[in-house]
Amino acid sequence: MAQILITGANRGLGLEFVRQYLDRGEKVVATFRENNDTSDLEELQNKYLNFLTLVPMDITSSDSRIKAFSKVKSKVSGLDILINNAGMTGKRELKFGDLHADHMLEVFNVNAISAVLVAEQFSQLFKEKTKIINISSWMGSISARENTTNFSYCASKAALNMFTKLLSNALRDKKIITIPMHPGWVKTRMGTQSAPIEQKDSISGMIQVIDSLTLEETGKFYDWQGNELAW
Ligand SMILES: NC(=O)c1ccc[n+]([C@@H]2O[C@H](COP(=O)([O-])OP(=O)(O)OC[C@H]3O[C@@H](n4cnc5c(N)ncnc54)[C@H](OP(=O)(O)O)[C@@H]3O)[C@@H](O)[C@H]2O)c1
Repeated sequence: MAQILITGANRGLGLEFVRQYLDRGEKVVATFRENNDTSDLEELQNKYLNFLTLVPMDITSSDSRIKAFSKVKSKVSGLDILINNAGMTGKRELKFGDLHADHMLEVFNVNAISAVLVAEQFSQLFKEKTKIINISSWMGSISARENTTNFSYCASKAALNMFTKLLSNALRDKKIITIPMHPGWVKTRMGTQSAPIEQKDSISGMIQVIDSLTLEETGKFYDWQGNELAW
């Protein structure tokens, strides 16, 4: 039984990761921001009893990360998988001529900086072959970019990719596997209902890719179907 921590787990892809890992018998820690509707997580907790631990954590707050860590430490003996899933798009139309520093900093903070700080905070629980999966986006691929909008989101995911690469270098000797992963364009609040991919398909695809990861793959950028992507 694997021990897995997932951030931003109250809705969207995070919640579906929780569902599918619980379904196959894993032990899951689901983190979410306080004052949220956690009814879906509570329903899962009633169904899976001791297999699901709910822990509030705003990933951008150092206090909140420390409190979450001390709760998680008392519940698990280590982490086999950390999924840094929490993220935000912010203003999709943000483009040259309409850039706002506050907004850009917020998106960078959530999507890139906080993900690497969560990994640092929970690193005491890592062991040999722990897998760190940073949910990134194809929008963060510099070589593939042709759009003229979404400045903050695209750049924040490119920054997340760089943080992930550096993390993979830093943790390789400990045999920890670290990758950024693109979930596809998926029907969630962020992805909207126009997205072509269902949550259950994206998540089952990503879980299959995560299962098959070895140290050979650390520091590479993959999508939900296991295709390697260009930076
Ligand atoms: N859906 C897609 O098509 C798509 C494509 C590429 C990449 N992604 C990536 O996939 C991940 C999940 O996205 P999604 O589609 O499931 O989006 P979503 O439905 O909007 O869910 C985003 C999750 O992130 C959480 N979050 C945001 N800021 C947070 C913070 N400061 N602290 C803790 N949690 C925070 C949200 O919590 P609240 O409920 O508290 O806001 C929510 O649980 C994101 O990293 C996103 O960039 C999604």
